[in-house]
Amino acid sequence: MTDNNIQTNSITLLGLGSMGTALARAWLAAGTSLTVWNRTPNRAQALASEGATVAPTAAEAVAAGRLVVVCLLDDESVGAALDGIDLSGKDLVNLTTGTPAQARARAEWARERGARFLDGGIMAVPPMIGVPDSGAYVFYSGSEDLFTEHREALAVPAGTTFVGVDPGYAALHDVALLSAMTGMFAGVAHAFALVRREDIAPTGFASLLADWLAAMTASVHLAAEQLETGDYTTGVVSNLAMQVAGNATLLRTAAEQRVSPELLTPYMALMERRLAAGRGDEDTTGVIDLLAVG
Ligand SMILES: NC(=O)c1ccc[n+]([C@@H]2O[C@H](COP(=O)([O-])OP(=O)(O)OC[C@H]3O[C@@H](n4cnc5c(N)ncnc54)[C@H](OP(=O)(O)O)[C@@H]3O)[C@@H](O)[C@H]2O)c1
Repeated sequence: MTDNNIQTNSITLLGLGSMGTALARAWLAAGTSLTVWNRTPNRAQALASEGATVAPTAAEAVAAGRLVVVCLLDDESVGAALDGIDLSGKDLVNLTTGTPAQARARAEWARERGARFLDGGIMAVPPMIGVPDSGAYVFYSGSEDLFTEHREALAVPAGTTFVGVDPGYAALHDVALLSAMTGMFAGVAHAFALVRREDIAPTGFASLLADWLAAMTASVHLAAEQLETGDYTTGVVSNLAMQVAGNATLLRTAAEQRVSPELLTPYMALMERRLAAGRGDEDTTGVIDLLAVG
């Protein structure tokens, strides 16, 4: 523990859904003195028998300690749960998923009420929480002092990655990663659809697919370097012109296999727009510029 760290041995947790319950169990297992509250009281009963103090109201839970963690459904429920409660002098950590703008507004809302504020984006599912080496971590942004002082306690359920004093940055990092994952899932769905009706075992195909996706992720580093230099023609392995030509084969194969191309075509349309603008010698990095609207 450094001089800047406060040994936070007492935490209040609002919200005992799947994620809140997993967080609670991790802190209880670490010997933390935990006060919990949930809108529907019976969800707290099991935790009471595991050592948590159950507060009858959110106000009493908040009054029990300085570090107050909320993990509720959405930003609206955070406002509803904390409405009218005295937050002066509190350190509020919001692990509820929301947008960057919601996090910034919530930070200002907390500041007006005399609380320090840290927003968090949980990069894990409940079974990963409190499990060493599960890969679970949380993006944090907002009050760096709060983060530093409570870092040890925050690191109990999952790893911690502080991404900036802008309270919106944790949500932005969280949603950016989830958005990339969504695109990846779309590609995986299309790939399985292509082989689905053939004599190809999905389990064997899955290993090939996972290894291929893992190998292809190296491309994100090249794209990042190109974005930083502004030159999308450096280090290009497969240029845009070649990739657009290859798209025709992907679409013909989809038609042959009687698979809808609808998950692929929006991305392909952007590639074609960039090619039509005379950027055939670039990487696909130029598509990122086309996505900026307004
Ligand atoms: N589960 C995951 O895999 C996962 C992963 C990463 C991040 N997260 C995020 O973690 C947060 C919690 O997720 P979860 O899985 O625990 O959700 P959940 O199981 O649906 O639990 C939702 C919680 O919010 C409470 N709640 C909803 N509306 C409320 C209101 N108006 N006032 C007070 N409390 C309210 C619920 O209370 P009641 O019990 O009374 O309904 C419950 O405690 C979400 O923001 C989610 O996006 C979840």
